Amino acid sequence: MSSFDVAYVRSQFPALKRTVNGRPAAYLDGPGGTQTPQRVIDAVADYLAHHNCNVHGAFVTSEETDHVIEEARAAGADLLGCHRDEVSYGANMTTLALLLSDALARDIRPGDEVLITQLDHEANRGPWQRLAERGAVVREIPVDLTTCTLDWDAFERLVVPGTTRVVAVGYASNAVGTVTDVARAAALARDAGALSVIDAVHYALHGPIDVRAIGCDFLFCSAYKFFGPHVGLMYARREATEVLEPVRLSTQDPDPPCVWETGTLNHEGMAGATAAVDFIADLGERHLGMVEARLPADLQGRRRAVVAGMLAGEAHEQPLARRLREQLARIPGVSLYGPPEEAPRTSTVSFTLDGLQAVEVCRALGARGLFTWDGHFYAHRLVELLGLLPRGGLVRVGLAPYTTEEELERLVTAVAELARAAR
Ligand SMILES: Cc1ncc(COP(=O)(O)O)c(C=O)c1O
Repeated sequence: MSSFDVAYVRSQFPALKRTVNGRPAAYLDGPGGTQTPQRVIDAVADYLAHHNCNVHGAFVTSEETDHVIEEARAAGADLLGCHRDEVSYGANMTTLALLLSDALARDIRPGDEVLITQLDHEANRGPWQRLAERGAVVREIPVDLTTCTLDWDAFERLVVPGTTRVVAVGYASNAVGTVTDVARAAALARDAGALSVIDAVHYALHGPIDVRAIGCDFLFCSAYKFFGPHVGLMYARREATEVLEPVRLSTQDPDPPCVWETGTLNHEGMAGATAAVDFIADLGERHLGMVEARLPADLQGRRRAVVAGMLAGEAHEQPLARRLREQLARIPGVSLYGPPEEAPRTSTVSFTLDGLQAVEVCRALGARGLFTWDGHFYAHRLVELLGLLPRGGLVRVGLAPYTTEEELERLVTAVAELARAAR
């Protein structure tokens, strides 16, 4: 296909048939969690209906469950561009990050330094701030508040060879959509002998991820942000895991990737995560014509299709997001937050409206069937520094492959009405 088939995409999501007060629901809340296509729902139901069991038993449903887990690792590997033994599953990103911080804490000595950013979600700050309990000095990479991008000069000054032990950076800001050059961040960490930890939770549906090209040690994402169920994934570079001692029971498999997986996993969620990756791959196959010229030559099979699917979704969303920003900017009282137009960004658009708290805007939009999020979205530090906490934070509009131009026109019309009423 040479253009994005949004009608096909929408036909796959039962939730999109919902109406609110007689109007179709517009799910512009994707950064908080996307909707789920039928094949993911079917995969979860099929697991529970026909294969539900614990692992490593000598009978068929347990063998099938072992297979479901292997399949989920293979899907994660195709999503991230790594080996399946480097993909661990957990309850969510936050829990996996806390497990990693616990493992790192054992090797922290007083005076070691840890770098976090002012742009990140608390889930990529709090776990590393906890290393202060072991005597680590936690430093913040500042954000340029006019562009909502990292201050790279400060970043370079803050990385101290031999002293900096951990560098934690987000791939994309879930609050304002800034995409950060995580390969550059990982290289700075590597050159200083520090471990790099990348939070790709917001980025994961907004572009292909290649952990080898990034050169990071750890990377997180959450399946519920890319059409899957509520499970988290962690890429842990094999050599980086080998020198750590994650917390585990004596009976637990000590080898990666299981060493990061405490207790019984969410098997049905993993079955759904595989189906979500397959769905993205299906989008890629259907839209190869749109993105083929941009695909790296060495990619094959599902990995190639996943990369194509991510590129196709973005090719659909980016022009819509640009137009949305232009239209919102023309409404008196609207202030947009995020990087400059030419800077890399996701299709997430955030703004404030004079005279109204963010929650008042979202409530009024919600009554019109337009689902948007208000607040700080756990990117508390950034929203605090922007001075927006007293205003209830930001209004966040998240675009997804199922978003249409008509939905965004409804949104712009509604915001313009609210702006007129608030004056
Ligand atoms: C950028 C970012 N990082 C981390 C998280 C936390 O992910 P989880 O809910 O899987 O713990 C979120 C959730 O919204 C997020 O947007």
